[in-house]
Amino acid sequence: MINHFNLKVAKMEKYLKEFAAEQKELIHILHKTQVEYGYIPPEAITAISKYLNISESEIFGVLTFYKAFSLEPRGEHIVTVCMGTACHVRGGPQIVEEMARSLDIEVGQTTADNKFTLETVNCLGCCAIGPVVVVDGKYYSQITVKKIDGILKDYKE
Ligand code: FES
Repeated sequence: MINHFNLKVAKMEKYLKEFAAEQKELIHILHKTQVEYGYIPPEAITAISKYLNISESEIFGVLTFYKAFSLEPRGEHIVTVCMGTACHVRGGPQIVEEMARSLDIEVGQTTADNKFTLETVNCLGCCAIGPVVVVDGKYYSQITVKKIDGILKDYKE
């Protein structure tokens, strides 16, 4: 049986050596880890803590401060529904509800097949074309509940 824990640690040990064992490298190492795994696995925190000789709680502090880092595995496709004021008044809550129903997950969760993660955001800066949904960086404007299955279909294949 493949031991995923050992595989992750072995991979990490390789790329950790690319960085100096200095605290100022922490953010760079976390970025690299996020790119490699799509999130920051618990075993990575332990390995980084040993390598940089800093406590795991210090690393957690940095992880919770920077929203770019995720402590949970994320799906292959990231679906973001805008819940800013302008999108909210044009039906944002119904869009989120339908998206969650269609994917069979709650906001913040990832589907069992690891295909989709559903997230919300407070304004994407394009309020005039709301309600807005973004999938993997692609913007979908003036979304209605009826358009949702069509959008997701493109990513389900
Ligand atoms: S409120 Fe949705 S883009 Fe601004």
